[in-house]
Amino acid sequence: MDVASRPTALVTGASAGIGEALARVVAAHGFDLVLAARREDRLRALARELTERFQVDARVLVADLADPTAPARIFEKCRAGGRRVDLLVNNAGYGLAGGFLDATWEEHARFIQVMMTSAAELTWRFLPSMIEHRYGRIINVASLAGLVPGSAGHTLYAASKAFLIKLSESVALENRRHGVHVTALCPGFTHTEFHDVSGTRDLVSHLPAWMWMDAERVAREGYDAVMRGQIVYVPGRANRTIALFIRLLPQALMMSIARRQGRRFRKVAP
Ligand SMILES: NC(=O)c1ccc[n+]([C@@H]2O[C@H](COP(=O)([O-])OP(=O)(O)OC[C@H]3O[C@@H](n4cnc5c(N)ncnc54)[C@H](OP(=O)(O)O)[C@@H]3O)[C@@H](O)[C@H]2O)c1
Repeated sequence: MDVASRPTALVTGASAGIGEALARVVAAHGFDLVLAARREDRLRALARELTERFQVDARVLVADLADPTAPARIFEKCRAGGRRVDLLVNNAGYGLAGGFLDATWEEHARFIQVMMTSAAELTWRFLPSMIEHRYGRIINVASLAGLVPGSAGHTLYAASKAFLIKLSESVALENRRHGVHVTALCPGFTHTEFHDVSGTRDLVSHLPAWMWMDAERVAREGYDAVMRGQIVYVPGRANRTIALFIRLLPQALMMSIARRQGRRFRKVAP
């Protein structure tokens, strides 16, 4: 693809895990990239790798999405650099382990800002130019946790992922006629730094191998899903089977399963 015709993707949380893997997949498909996160050294190393491997233009944008001014600044920097974003990946995220009252409200407020508000605002800011150009792709990295019943020790995390799924559904239905596809990507347990950051590695290390996926596969399947216009996508056969059971089983039974599973891999168990 020549430079003039190359589309651009903005990936948040591109310094590790699923975001880093998505950046590689997107670059392999010929997108130029804007890579956003807090760790500049990691972003610069990835930008160098993508430029060399795929001959794309990869730029680094250091941003803390807990800062309420970050989405507007990201948007302005993309615009000032002449970047029209064709593919937006709202991926940055983390977990707050423990019960609802174990964190301060300031910690919860930062969490809500990163996990929900920033994703909604970036979508709102970048959507008009996608509509204008009759092409846009948005991947909101949600989670299987947004589809299963909430469990103890998972309060705002599961809620934030359910929010992303509902946001994706509505924005997708509103904008499909404008050539914009929106996908809520709902991975299950994925090998990344996520559980080290949230301090839950010990709890999840006993889970069987079939419950885990590689970030690379999640990213490949997520990219394919948004390109074909699938609105909610659960990567991996095992995760899809879990999602199917959730739809079929009575709620009381699901809550009792959630209670038992919660004891296995959350910091707070009923
Ligand atoms: N791993 C799983 O089992 C799993 C399952 C389902 C869904 N997910 C979701 O997948 C997404 C990616 O997580 P991951 O598993 O790839 O975890 P990860 O390896 O820990 O990567 C998280 C990414 O988010 C960025 N990030 C975190 N807080 C940020 C902030 N305040 N501002 C900007 N960037 C921030 C991190 O960058 P910096 O630290 O450099 O800022 C990093 O690039 C998350 O939304 C997560 O909820 C993960």
